[in-house]
Amino acid sequence: MGRLHVLDHPLIQHKLTYIRSKETGTKEFRQLVQEVAMLMAYEITRDLPLTDTTVETPVGLAHCKVIEGKTLALVPVLRAGLGMVDGILAMIPNAKVGHIGLYRDPETLQPVEYYCKLPPNVEERDVIVIDPMLATGGSAVAAIDAVKERGATAVKLMCLVAAPAGVQRVQSAHPDVDIYVAAVDDGLNDHGYIVPGLGDAGDRLFGTR
Ligand code: URA
Repeated sequence: MGRLHVLDHPLIQHKLTYIRSKETGTKEFRQLVQEVAMLMAYEITRDLPLTDTTVETPVGLAHCKVIEGKTLALVPVLRAGLGMVDGILAMIPNAKVGHIGLYRDPETLQPVEYYCKLPPNVEERDVIVIDPMLATGGSAVAAIDAVKERGATAVKLMCLVAAPAGVQRVQSAHPDVDIYVAAVDDGLNDHGYIVPGLGDAGDRLFGTR
């Protein structure tokens, strides 16, 4: 079973409070989401493997570590996932960035992929799928399906806020995928919004409310 990591660092919790507030405008919302994403990147990369290297300092030879293997791939789910990318890139500037676009079929209510462009050699990279609001879990499961179908084997899911139903759905569809969230909320309302959540993340990020 994929593990659920609730990143309850005080800085993350403090910033999340203002992200949630309906008084927070677009500019500040965007800034805070980037800051939380940057802090979450620190935790989500905690288990990256290191390899030995040496560098010459001005004083002598230092035996050091660098991250092993190919650079990470970040895969935001359009469009709200875009809001977390720059914050993660501030920590991991060499990461590659793919994109996945999904829409909900009005008849079946199932997510349908309309766009997917991933970095090369995705099978050799740690892949972080970014979907800020893990509500029913439908889009996150579809996004993880999409990256796995294209060869990804080491996948993590990064969200801002999750509902318990979304966590369960991802865990049962993708038991190998660890989930990283800043908070797990009470549940979903009749419109599929997380309660209390923060509203529509995409609209609040892009000012399209
Ligand atoms: N998507 C959002 O943007 N917000 C929710 O609460 C659920 C899905």
